[in-house]
Amino acid sequence: MKVLNFGSLNLDYVYSVDHFVRPGETLSAVSQALNPGGKGLNQSIALARAGAQASHAGCIGAGGEMLKQLLADNGVDTTWLPTVEALQGNAVIQVNRDGENCILLFGGSNQCVTEEQVARTLDAFEAGDWLVLQNEINNLPLIVDTAYAKGLRIALNPSPYDDRLKDVDFGKLSWLLVNEVEAGQISGSEEPEEAWSLLHARYPALSVLITLGGDGSVAHRVEGGEVETVRQAAFPVKAVDTTAAGDTFTGYFISGLMEGLPLETCMRRASKASSISVTRPGAAPSIPLRAEVDAALA
Ligand code: RIB
Repeated sequence: MKVLNFGSLNLDYVYSVDHFVRPGETLSAVSQALNPGGKGLNQSIALARAGAQASHAGCIGAGGEMLKQLLADNGVDTTWLPTVEALQGNAVIQVNRDGENCILLFGGSNQCVTEEQVARTLDAFEAGDWLVLQNEINNLPLIVDTAYAKGLRIALNPSPYDDRLKDVDFGKLSWLLVNEVEAGQISGSEEPEEAWSLLHARYPALSVLITLGGDGSVAHRVEGGEVETVRQAAFPVKAVDTTAAGDTFTGYFISGLMEGLPLETCMRRASKASSISVTRPGAAPSIPLRAEVDAALA
């Protein structure tokens, strides 16, 4: 069983700041770094480091060659990554003293996915394979429709949430992975339990994972009409940089599902991996290896 991540790749320009820049303010950064990132790339690296056989599809733009190399170095198949005539997608990230971030995205190459690329890429995957998606590339509705018709299991992390998601048929997804805010934006309720009930009523076959920040996470898995609910507390750590914490969770969680691990184990491992990632700076560089996560849980 394989997993394809059709997703973004970004150059992350990261600035450590005392506080986030305010309107009209000019602020000197404490330090600056250029890191590999993008929700798609981060999730692919997390999948691979968790032990999954992962492929990454998307577009490489000018200046992005090192992102493709990084995926390859981590054992991710890069067959489905054409080079396009656009600037590499990038992000300007401020990280404050509490390790919180705010992110400004420029789509660039990530918005160059063609219909032909979607067809050609998904042709190489078959029923039972997994597809992981975020909302940082174009043509998402087509990708979902094509993958669903082929019988792939689709997991969507609808981040960043925007109006384009209204064209995605959530009824074709197997898993929706959201934080509380996104759960509220999609369901209409910011209260996680109510959000789940509303989503379940609207899409009865959809499984939903909601991450709750310091309150951990909750997963509702639907199988054969039955719902299994598992709650996982957060592992307390001193956060240095929370960038890619959610991506790390997603990669480890999906890899656990692919291995057929009990839902509780998938949640626990994903939560531990995510908690390790926030103790380190950067996006992709902060994602731990499976051995490290297992040792921390032993
Ligand atoms: O989820 C973190 C990622 O969001 C960063 O790496 C940045 O590139 C943005 O896509």
